[in-house]
Amino acid sequence: MKTKIVYVNPLNPEIEKLMVAANILKNGELVAFPTETVYGLGGDALNVDSVKKIFKVKGRPIDNPLIVHINSIEEINKVAINIPELAYRLMDIFFPGPLTLILPRNPTIPPEVSAYLPSVAVRMPAHPIAINLIKLLNSPIAAPSANKSSRVSPVTANHVYDDFKNEIKLIIDGGITPLGLESTVLDLTKERPTILRPGVIPLEELKEIIPSVEEFGIGTEQTMDKPASPGMKYKHYSPVIPLILVTGKTPYIWEEIIKLRTALEESKEKIGLLLTKEGYQYLGNPPNSLILGSKDKPLDIGSRLYLTLRELEKNYNMIIVEGIKEVGIGRAVMNRLKKAASKIIEF
Ligand code: TXA
Ligand code: MG
Repeated sequence: MKTKIVYVNPLNPEIEKLMVAANILKNGELVAFPTETVYGLGGDALNVDSVKKIFKVKGRPIDNPLIVHINSIEEINKVAINIPELAYRLMDIFFPGPLTLILPRNPTIPPEVSAYLPSVAVRMPAHPIAINLIKLLNSPIAAPSANKSSRVSPVTANHVYDDFKNEIKLIIDGGITPLGLESTVLDLTKERPTILRPGVIPLEELKEIIPSVEEFGIGTEQTMDKPASPGMKYKHYSPVIPLILVTGKTPYIWEEIIKLRTALEESKEKIGLLLTKEGYQYLGNPPNSLILGSKDKPLDIGSRLYLTLRELEKNYNMIIVEGIKEVGIGRAVMNRLKKAASKIIEF
């Protein structure tokens, strides 16, 4: 199968181009498309064969469920049942946008979508291409991030192509995805609302609306045994080369990063650095480095994380990354980095 890439204007999508994509989806084939977070690998959520194709092509374990994407708040009823009042309050504030809600699944959604769980993950993306594509299909779209299982999520059409060339019919190229990091996954089926995956909407913001919200202890051994979100137990977001994460107090960690690189380079490793703007400047613009962004602008850091990781893995055989503060979106950034790391050094 030859993969076609079609450029579509992300702000004002050409509807005739999206019609072609919607028809491919109607025929049970897969289409990768941009959302405001990352690219998704989409299939018709009501078509079991499409859903199975997603798992197969992505190499996704069958017990790790998919997110269903809708184009309006009203469409939630097609996907979920027994929707609590809190869900409507959250949708009023955060839909469309980077928040995914776990709700009781409507039986019209094939159980394969949810890996046979009684629940379903649902989100309304805030991207004109995604919204119009769902509208034209006239059916919700099931879509995981459009990367091979356990790889870094894609934020450009080329990233998708690198992972799926000749395995899917169409990639809609809508340029770089603006947020660059996945949605926050919030489980509303538990007694206490629980964040299963930190994402662009930070815990602090959700706390203002749901004071009792808690964040699942992601990554601890305890949670690995009995994960609330099946996605938690799998290795995720990993670059294909070793990544060392260095965290702690500055400027100490900046100096340690350079020491570490020098020591490792003696064993002929070709090492790329991923630094904050402050770290980069403190170290006098060290060579073979990419800048994540300024510590004062964690949203920028979030949006450049996958972009820079994919870039570094092409050119080096090891990456050393400077950790950031685990507040706001920094929690999501550090969650991904910790999962990606082959080694974590804390000072
Ligand atoms: O920003 C995003 O959320 C992107 C874009 C494409 O929408 N999608 C995305 O999908 O990141 P994916 O499949 O890569 O991650 C979905 C996460 C997984 O960790 C999965 O385990 C969890 O959501 N999930 C999905 N359905 C669930 C359910 N019914 N119960 C618990 N966790 C669920
Ligand atoms: Mg993913």
